[in-house]
Amino acid sequence: MAVDVLLGLQWGDEGKGKIVDVLTRNYDIIARFQGGPNAGHTLEFDGIKHVLHTIPSGIFHPGAQNVIGNGVVIDPVIFQGEIEKLESFRLNINEVLLISRKAHLILPSHRLLDAASEAAKGKNKIGSTLKGIGPTYMDKTGRNGLRVGDIELDDFQERYDSLLNKHKQILSHYEEYEAYLTKLEELEPAWFAAVERLRGMTLIDSEHMINQSLKAGKSILAEGAQGSLLDIDFGSYPFVTSSTTTCAGSCTGLGIAPNRIQKVYGIFKAYCTRVGSGPFPTELEDETGEALRAKGHEFGATTGRPRRCGWLDLPALKYAIEINGVTDLIMMKSDVLSGFSTIKVCTGYRYKGTVIDYLPYNIENDLVEPIYTELAGWQDDLTGLDNFETAPQALKDYVAFVQEQTGVPITIVSVGPDRNQTIHLAAQNVSA
Ligand code: GDP
Ligand code: IMO
Ligand code: MG
Repeated sequence: MAVDVLLGLQWGDEGKGKIVDVLTRNYDIIARFQGGPNAGHTLEFDGIKHVLHTIPSGIFHPGAQNVIGNGVVIDPVIFQGEIEKLESFRLNINEVLLISRKAHLILPSHRLLDAASEAAKGKNKIGSTLKGIGPTYMDKTGRNGLRVGDIELDDFQERYDSLLNKHKQILSHYEEYEAYLTKLEELEPAWFAAVERLRGMTLIDSEHMINQSLKAGKSILAEGAQGSLLDIDFGSYPFVTSSTTTCAGSCTGLGIAPNRIQKVYGIFKAYCTRVGSGPFPTELEDETGEALRAKGHEFGATTGRPRRCGWLDLPALKYAIEINGVTDLIMMKSDVLSGFSTIKVCTGYRYKGTVIDYLPYNIENDLVEPIYTELAGWQDDLTGLDNFETAPQALKDYVAFVQEQTGVPITIVSVGPDRNQTIHLAAQNVSA
């Protein structure tokens, strides 16, 4: 069987968790391929809201196996916290959750390095989630990192000490060194206790398991974290995360050959948000931006920070579609756009005296000026909508416009955070 990939097309928080949960019934295995506890994937059903950071979003379906792939970085403490929250669901965690031995470990000192690096950057800070993501991936590519499989080795403690010593050398250059050492002492006991619990979990050679499963005819959904505009290569560098958030990341993060990939689901919000620093051409720093934030509850699922809000940016969306080979678009949070008399969509940029409709090398806000097309808004509350046939005409027109501009079909329109507030579109429904 083939692998389908689901990933975010904007700056993260598009609603990946909700849709993975919705789609899980079609798959045997859900596999996270990159990122770590910087992610916060929210899903809601039966009136309860769950936020997952490391655990794949298929976990609430007892029939599905969930794999944390080699491309993921794991903080054992945060991970154990997530597992504890699942206890009331009486899942047999060791059967339904499998962890790659090749996934890298986030050490307490990685978090301190993240904090030190951000503090030193001052106003140029990335706005990192401070979970240690950057330093952990740096140690991975620097060939210093500790992997989950290392905890099964006799010399794990020596490996830990050796890496910690390297980190201490770096931290000693910062003024706050003594404070970092105190913090380290506070963090270490819980970290080692969580590593002990991780030892009792199902650690696997996930690339092998995944390829065997494919040969056995099982279907796999690869779950991305963050979004394409935060990709280490193709995002708004340096204001990005440290992993490959795009489709190629599912190959390296799970051990899947590119020719195994079939569908690529690309998720986007009907508008745009961004949390953390970095350029955002269509950002609205006015009451319309405030209205989107308030109506869409745009506050980070991991850090609680307010998300910056703006109109949909089609050049950026088309770029992400191209890089990822998106076959199916999924439009989220359509309900949040209800109530606007008109809705703007950016269709191009004024850039260095010309008009372009693609994302240039440098998208700094003072270089790129969005050009907008105005579409009619709709007033109806969409949260009870269960059939696209009965949707307001203006919403149908909005969907048709995005499809026409991108050339990719929108197959799902989401109208609320709950699992059930999801409309699957048949191709014939989308014409204006
Ligand atoms: P993820 O990181 O891509 O999984 O997305 P997040 O969970 O960080 O952020 C998406 C937020 O929007 C969460 O609070 C979801 O519960 C919520 N959400 C998802 N889909 C919809 C939708 O269609 N409408 C509304 N109003 N909220 C949604
Ligand atoms: P999900 O999977 C939104 C952002 C941070 C910061 C930048 C780098 O929930 O969509 P990092 O901690 O990775 O070094 O931070 O990336 N960021 C996210 N923004 N959603 C996420 O994940 C994010 N993960 C990281 O805010 O700007
Ligand atoms: Mg999120």
